[in-house]
Amino acid sequence: MESSQFHTALALLDWQVELGATEAICDAPVNCYELPDTLAKPKAATGPQAVSQAPKAAAEVDPVAEAKRAAAAAQDLDALRDALAGFEHCALKRGARSLVFSDGIAGAPVMIIGEAPGRDEDREGRPFVGRAGQLLDKMLAAIGRGRTDENAPVYITNVLPWRPPQNRDPQPDEIAMMRPFLERHIALAKPQALVIMGNISAQALLGKRGITRLRGNWTDCFGLPALPMFHPAYLLRQPAAKREAWADLLSLKARLGDG
Ligand code: URA
Repeated sequence: MESSQFHTALALLDWQVELGATEAICDAPVNCYELPDTLAKPKAATGPQAVSQAPKAAAEVDPVAEAKRAAAAAQDLDALRDALAGFEHCALKRGARSLVFSDGIAGAPVMIIGEAPGRDEDREGRPFVGRAGQLLDKMLAAIGRGRTDENAPVYITNVLPWRPPQNRDPQPDEIAMMRPFLERHIALAKPQALVIMGNISAQALLGKRGITRLRGNWTDCFGLPALPMFHPAYLLRQPAAKREAWADLLSLKARLGDG
């Protein structure tokens, strides 16, 4: 293979990995459009059986109600993690490698809420470990905090605990389904303040979008002071916005009473 072909092939492979196509499921690709009818479509049942079959059973499960029930039953963070691990109604779980629950020190005065795990987080099972996470660590260090700092800790989680395929935005039904777990997570972690990172988190927690307008303005979320901020991934794309992010970090520092 010529060198230019090699580099093109490598770039294509990198691109696929970036999109999340990281696992070979079969040795050869399968064209789902060409599957025989018997495999592609389940046979419709006929006769009296048909009435009692699947659609009715599926329609009866309300995933949000199930999530509320499972989350409310969890009495501590370990139980909440177990409840999430056993929650089967979110399709994202089936495509993800790990449950990404939290990082940092539970009980920290500030809880940071991101959007959803990406490829690196899915691989490691911890939130914010990729490039955006490294920037987040630097931002926190600039105000004297860190996820492993016992004297000035933070606690970190995401709106969604499973990676959406190809890093697409979380869907409203996925957010609605996982929100009861997030609310319970906040109640059990007992932070004094929340940082809401980015538009998706603002949508999930405040029911509002427009992070450029929301950021920097303290608001109430589940009875706690909450600060919407630009997401570190946005700051990587728009370094000029780091000025506003720095102002927000100072506001956070002052709110936490850090000297
Ligand atoms: N972005 C997020 O919002 N959360 C992560 O865990 C990683 C990237």
